[in-house]
Amino acid sequence: MGRLDTTAEERITVRELRCDEGDVLDALVAGLSPRSRYLRFHAPIPALSAGLRRALLDVDGRDRIALVAEGVDGSPVGIARVSRGPELREEAEIAVSTIDAWHRRGVGRLLVAAVAERAHAVGVRRLTAMVLPENRAAIALFRSAFPVCLTRRSADAVVLVALLGAGIDDWTVTTEDVFADLADMAS
Ligand SMILES: CC(C)(COP(=O)(O)OP(=O)(O)OC[C@H]1O[C@@H](n2cnc3c(N)ncnc32)[C@H](O)[C@@H]1OP(=O)(O)O)[C@@H](O)C(=O)NCCC(=O)NCCS
Repeated sequence: MGRLDTTAEERITVRELRCDEGDVLDALVAGLSPRSRYLRFHAPIPALSAGLRRALLDVDGRDRIALVAEGVDGSPVGIARVSRGPELREEAEIAVSTIDAWHRRGVGRLLVAAVAERAHAVGVRRLTAMVLPENRAAIALFRSAFPVCLTRRSADAVVLVALLGAGIDDWTVTTEDVFADLADMAS
């Protein structure tokens, strides 16, 4: 699905999360520092609550897709998910996290590209990400992964909006297209 090769020991592969893999989610959350957990969940959670774990495991490969990145020993190092609701079928929310020990080694970029590709294949054309304004890493990641990535502010977060083109690497959207698209969303 996706592979990142740095050295043989550091090879990363990406696969779908299964809905019975609560242990994988727990391992990933345990690998996040308190600050990273706060940035991901917008709250200082020490661990996943039963309800949040259930919600994150509710994946169906179409409307709720989660991809896990694993090291050569099979241990999870990052996760990205997209989810869309029943109404705005062309729009989905994206979220991503990489365990702290693997920050800045390309895992986040690999995951968001892979999950965006999957989302595009099932009809998603816009990704939104709710990011805390101080989260420079996530803002830089999304802006570098999606050449057309707009920003707007909501009450307590920055909302990043990425438009998905015909192919992830085939960006033909003009600024006019972007504003026309946003006007459609608002009407
Ligand atoms: C945001 C996050 C997922 C990035 O993951 P990552 O695996 O470290 O990201 P990558 O190594 O793939 O970085 C890709 C690009 O993102 C940007 N980036 C990543 N971390 C950055 C940082 N600390 N500061 C500035 N830019 C950063 C850079 O442009 C980077 O490219 P470069 O290394 O070639 O310069 C990670 O920091 C994380 O898990 N944070 C906590 C959870 C979170 O905030 N999630 C986002 C909420 S949706």
